[in-house]
Amino acid sequence: MPDFVGAVDQGTTSTRFMIFDHEGAEVAKYQLEHEQLLPRAGWVEHNPIEIWTRTAAVIQSTLQRTGLHDTDLAAVGVTNQRETTVVWNPRTGRPYYNAIVWQDTRTDRIAAALERDGRGQVIRDRTGLRPEAYFSGGKIQWILENVDGVREAAERGEAVFGTTDTWTLWNLTGGVNGGAHVTDVTNASRTMLMDLDTLDWDDELLSFFGVPRAMLPRILPSADPSGYGVTFPYGPFGGQVPIAAALGDQQAATVGQVCFAPGEAKNTYGTGNFLLLNTGTDRVRSESGLLTTVAYKFGDQPAVFALEGSIAVTGSAVQWLRDQLHVITSAAQSETLARQVRDNGGIYFVPAFSGLFAPYWRADARGAIVGLSRFNTDAHLARATLEAICYQSRDVVEAMQEDSGVILDVLKVDGGVTANDLCMQLQSDILGVPVSRPTVAETTALGAAYAAGLAVGYWRDTDELRTHWAEDRRWRPEWSEEQREQGYAGWKKAVGKAFGWSE
Ligand code: G3P
Repeated sequence: MPDFVGAVDQGTTSTRFMIFDHEGAEVAKYQLEHEQLLPRAGWVEHNPIEIWTRTAAVIQSTLQRTGLHDTDLAAVGVTNQRETTVVWNPRTGRPYYNAIVWQDTRTDRIAAALERDGRGQVIRDRTGLRPEAYFSGGKIQWILENVDGVREAAERGEAVFGTTDTWTLWNLTGGVNGGAHVTDVTNASRTMLMDLDTLDWDDELLSFFGVPRAMLPRILPSADPSGYGVTFPYGPFGGQVPIAAALGDQQAATVGQVCFAPGEAKNTYGTGNFLLLNTGTDRVRSESGLLTTVAYKFGDQPAVFALEGSIAVTGSAVQWLRDQLHVITSAAQSETLARQVRDNGGIYFVPAFSGLFAPYWRADARGAIVGLSRFNTDAHLARATLEAICYQSRDVVEAMQEDSGVILDVLKVDGGVTANDLCMQLQSDILGVPVSRPTVAETTALGAAYAAGLAVGYWRDTDELRTHWAEDRRWRPEWSEEQREQGYAGWKKAVGKAFGWSE
């Protein structure tokens, strides 16, 4: 058995390739960002060709830098930004349109129409989701209706759909030279097209969006030793490595954080924040604005489900301070700037750039900065941005506690923003529970590697993976109860001001 396992993480802002050893420790990592295309207010796109060339580049570069080869890898797992929709021609490899990103709100009207006539309830019951622009179904419909010739091409089998796992897997396995058109259950569970009971595409759901079944990839278990095939010998690996797993990035982070038992949860701080609570083989229906989603399915074992609190804008609010307002020059500077002040100076920032996701689900919301006085500075804005990340997480923790009755005694965190110590201290203060960061903060890639390694027998079982998890740092609440509740009341008031800005 080769010594290492690889993981491709195709994220919203960047794509990385990582190599892990048998203890789950990072051996190598390289990543490249891709361009965020913002053609109109509310629209967010990526160029799929750029995504694939960067994916190939990070793999090649990581192997070159480490001197490792395809033969050193026991398996590869793929993880990805979920919901982002690509439609391409499998004969030419050319996309018909840019990828429509999960944050894109252009399909708000499609979603609202579903809600009006009862189809919304079918979507809720069957998919665990809600009719929202966030998910892939409406994005595919938009491409079919707005890009010339795509519907006819789809009917001829010349236009296929995939989220970016599928796009990456198709390219990794040879692309126009017979690439595999596949996805996994976790990604399929984010389309509004898959029935959570059968774990298969559902004809009635497909009819809601006018999506021909022939466009859709085959749905596989998240860990599957045979289904995903091997990498194309003339591709970036330069040889045939088994691709043994695929899963959406938030589900991968759940695996990377070893949340294998019902009641275990993690919160990932990336472009957005995503809190997932393992509910075991039971589908728990949310009454509080959370989603029901597939957490993972390993081989023939039954699927494991999760309740999910999805927050659209957290790390990307810090990016906005950097790239659009030029208040800071690096994400790390948000911490130094925010540390210049003792508190938020009375201001709250609700970064509802894509409406508000969980638990509010208000497509009509837009960003708001409230409570401003002349006293306020850029440091207060930086502080309010970090607080917004934490208050939004408190909103979903409260919803999760209501739905599941599980009271968190510690919040396991991961993702890029967890490098921000002030933000993590604020998270603990705002929640009133300790916050714990593991030694491997790249839990998304780690989870994809774990799933792939389990599939090929590189790791024995999930108990073995549990022994790898270790705490790096823990933050404990320092605010008084009064301070915490006052702060949260201010946040709730600010959220109310963000509603009603878009039709
Ligand atoms: O649902 C969207 C999510 O998968 C994106 O994650 O880490 O790329 O922001 P991330």
